[in-house]
Amino acid sequence: MHCYENLINYLSCGIILAGLGHLVHHKKAQTSYGRHMGPSPPARTVPARLAWFLQEMPALLIPLFLMFTSHKSSSMGKFLLIGTFCVHYFHRTFVYSPLTRGRPFPLGVMVAGGFFCSLNGFLQGHYLLHCVQFDHEWSTDYRCMTGLLLFYTGMAINIHSDCILRNLRKPNDVVYKIPTGGLFEYVSGANYLGEIVEWFGYAVATWSLPALSFAFFSLSFTGPRAYYHHRFYQEKFKDYPKFRKALIPFIF
Ligand SMILES: NC(=O)c1ccc[n+]([C@@H]2O[C@H](COP(=O)([O-])OP(=O)(O)OC[C@H]3O[C@@H](n4cnc5c(N)ncnc54)[C@H](OP(=O)(O)O)[C@@H]3O)[C@@H](O)[C@H]2O)c1
Repeated sequence: MHCYENLINYLSCGIILAGLGHLVHHKKAQTSYGRHMGPSPPARTVPARLAWFLQEMPALLIPLFLMFTSHKSSSMGKFLLIGTFCVHYFHRTFVYSPLTRGRPFPLGVMVAGGFFCSLNGFLQGHYLLHCVQFDHEWSTDYRCMTGLLLFYTGMAINIHSDCILRNLRKPNDVVYKIPTGGLFEYVSGANYLGEIVEWFGYAVATWSLPALSFAFFSLSFTGPRAYYHHRFYQEKFKDYPKFRKALIPFIF
């Protein structure tokens, strides 16, 4: 397959615009799932485990499909980077999804999330497999190594923080409690902080516009969400730790 360069550029710019749109829109409403669902539940919902599974799976399957149908010889650096993207979505699809104890997910949000994951899976996979040319030393380049270090550090923070949240609930419980431990001692959105570090690390490791656009989108989507989670905790719990910030330790 040849490189659809224009499509890659349009999709990357589209994702940046979607992120900007979310930043502008966030004061009016947060994407309506979890605690931000509003007083009247949506008409159609899907159990959280199924919703996360269906929504995230395309971001794993599409790059894998592109990789196995690509006839081009790929360097070690390419496999390392596309493999890293797939590791994240393997975890989301087959580990995070079946374990989540979240409340039912609105169908519309799941469909929109699945659409986004499909586009993004195609964007990152097609770009890495068919557009970029890494030289053979890329996997030992300082940008690739620093980026991967950031990615896996962020992923560890994200997984650990999501695990803390999950353990706050018993099965079939939907109450909210004060999270403690790990980076939650410093910020209310520790899982989001991990996710943001992950994708900016990935952007450094791939040194690419598509990965940067996704990192920017993740920041624009989860950053405001961390802020509103923080406000929710402050309003709901009078004893919420005063020292804790929303997203960036000691700062914000
Ligand atoms: N890259 C991106 O753009 C992007 C976008 C969105 C999400 N994500 C990632 O997807 C994962 C889930 O996102 P999310 O928005 O659902 O995160 P979240 O709001 O922090 O919720 C994560 C899970 O923990 C539960 N939970 C949260 N706070 C809790 C508390 N105080 N007490 C008890 N349970 C609590 C939630 O239940 P409820 O659902 O019932 O609230 C949900 O099941 C995160 O790792 C996030 O980084 C990435």
